[in-house]
Amino acid sequence: MRPLLAIESSCDETAAAVLDIDSGEILSNIVHTQAEHAEFGGVVPEIASREHLAKIHNVVQRSLDDATLKATDLNAVAATYGPGLIGALLVGVQMAKGIAQARNIPFVGVHHIEGHLMAASISDHVPESPFIGLVASGGHSALYRFAGPGEATLLGETRDDAAGEAYDKTAKLLGLGYPGGVVIDRLAEQGDATRFKLPISLKDRSTYDYSFSGLKTAVRVLVQKLEAAGDIVEGQRLYDVCACLRKAITDALLAKAMLACRRQQVPRLVLGGGVSANSLLRSEALRLGKENDVEVFLPERAYCTDNAVMIAAAARAHFLAGRTSPLSLHANAGAKVEDSLEAFQVRT
Ligand code: KG4
Ligand code: ZN
Repeated sequence: MRPLLAIESSCDETAAAVLDIDSGEILSNIVHTQAEHAEFGGVVPEIASREHLAKIHNVVQRSLDDATLKATDLNAVAATYGPGLIGALLVGVQMAKGIAQARNIPFVGVHHIEGHLMAASISDHVPESPFIGLVASGGHSALYRFAGPGEATLLGETRDDAAGEAYDKTAKLLGLGYPGGVVIDRLAEQGDATRFKLPISLKDRSTYDYSFSGLKTAVRVLVQKLEAAGDIVEGQRLYDVCACLRKAITDALLAKAMLACRRQQVPRLVLGGGVSANSLLRSEALRLGKENDVEVFLPERAYCTDNAVMIAAAARAHFLAGRTSPLSLHANAGAKVEDSLEAFQVRT
């Protein structure tokens, strides 16, 4: 057995996981989600960095304890180097580099999006490459063509808000707290998705790009109209608004994803990111996949939101391909997935 420790700290989750490089077996998975941001209705970067610093040692130690291993047993250590919040990324990268240097073991820098694209592969139903990857989270909404680790290219992305951001901002508007995606998903289950009309922007087929910022304005106008007419948005009316919002976001995400599968002649679609935990997105992806002869791969819900198992899975693939990173690799808030091979040196 050759254990690999991976650390994820790009946003508001401090996470560590241990994976066996040889078998791919997951030996531990620890995720600490920072609750400190809730009262601000969104992630506060400075608080995120400080919280990562406060928690990282404990999270890493628990991941080793759960795997019944010591730091001296590790064969490699990985961390997300970008994209994300720079102060947050630095904590995980420095921790991983410190362990690599102290133990004289290889360091592997992982691109966060590549982690999300690999999340569905942590199962027995591993997608073959190439595939189209739809990553929808609080920070990203984008479509990729994934030809293998280090070979992802961006096809289209959101021009404004990410899908998760659209959920979170409308949840705030509706007084549902932060983060809002999971609450809206739950309330939408009891709602009628045909009750109100919400726009699906950039429906035209000339681009793979998304746009979600218009949705929150549309919901705000809808709520104002309803309340002006004396119809308070609570109970069934609130469920219906949630159902309509969830349908608008889901339809927008999947229309472009299916378009990409068809145009790129790649009949495999992989979902990833926090929004891929959404019940309607999951069921609609499977339904549309059947209708369009596209094989759909969904990560387990625990691997949709940020976690270190997906980072470990990507790191393992690079390690097995002979790629590790120099200790001079920096955290990079704006790292592009197309440049992810630049994070490596070939191991001799
Ligand atoms: O991937 P993630 O943990 O962090 C980023 O990289 O951003 O995604 C978090 C996002 C949040 O916006 C959250 O509201 C959304 O994922 N989310 C959901 C659901 N669960 C989490 N959105 C819709 N439905 C869900 N069930
Ligand atoms: Zn993420």
